[in-house]
Amino acid sequence: MGSLTLEAYAKVNLGLAVTARRADGYHEIDTIFQTVSLSDTIRIESCDEVTTLSVTGLEVPAGRGNLAHRAAETLITRTGCSPVALTLTKRIPVAAGLGGGSSDAAAVLNGMNTLFGLRLRPEELEQIALELGSDVPFLVQGGTARGQGRGDVLTRLPGLTGVALVLVTPRVAVTAAQGYALARIGLTESATLIRLRCSAIQEGGTGLLELPLRNDLEAGVVSCCPDVAGARAALAEAGARAIVMSGSGPTVLALTRDDEEARQVASRVDGRGLQIHIVRPTATGSSVTRWDAG
Ligand code: C5P
Repeated sequence: MGSLTLEAYAKVNLGLAVTARRADGYHEIDTIFQTVSLSDTIRIESCDEVTTLSVTGLEVPAGRGNLAHRAAETLITRTGCSPVALTLTKRIPVAAGLGGGSSDAAAVLNGMNTLFGLRLRPEELEQIALELGSDVPFLVQGGTARGQGRGDVLTRLPGLTGVALVLVTPRVAVTAAQGYALARIGLTESATLIRLRCSAIQEGGTGLLELPLRNDLEAGVVSCCPDVAGARAALAEAGARAIVMSGSGPTVLALTRDDEEARQVASRVDGRGLQIHIVRPTATGSSVTRWDAG
């Protein structure tokens, strides 16, 4: 029986415009996705009986209630591959705008594709991923990409280098459904700004720090979750300049020039009861760290 272990990376949104409400209940968005070096660890082991999921670390549902479990079952139904025993070590804050559950699901799709030699192409995995959630298609490949539509219409961008990020997460959960229910359409972010940011990334990334970062979901989430405003204020007082809420919150990120600046900002925020992570961009949504062919 073979097994595979992967790191599944968190994602952030470097700006997010909500351009319309759709008839299917979702919202049209325009955003830049970036995977970052905060990760969950997932071990996938083929087994004979039924698919299982056990969890250590942060509290999330084990078993069927978890998106990673649903990802495995979806792939088994599609391909007829064997069941798996999943072991998840959870570190990415939950319902925090960091796509942790989505990344776990994408890593399970990638991992089972490799473990069982299913030979599904990334585009095929992305199609399956969309059944699991709007962010899951991006996380199949990860890296840097513009996301439009529900977030599933992806345009790859060159890898972002030469920046570090500070993630500040208030100790409160906000689900995507809650965040989007409060969306203020076209409030502050615009497709023009997103395009400018894409150009800055295409030109090497340094110009990104000079552009305003905005998220149309932020004002709505702040109205019911003042801790988000507190996290933003803490980063501003710590000297950070490029600050924005990630996804549907409540994590607020600061984009900084390098590790040194990120450490300085983080040390000044420390002690205010907020969860803090210093992260760097990653080039992929997950990476295999161990493979036992069995
Ligand atoms: O796609 P996902 O299951 O992650 O979405 C969870 C919820 O977030 C949706 O049911 C919807 O309420 C909201 N959402 C949205 N527009 C998007 C993505 C998510 O309204 N583009």
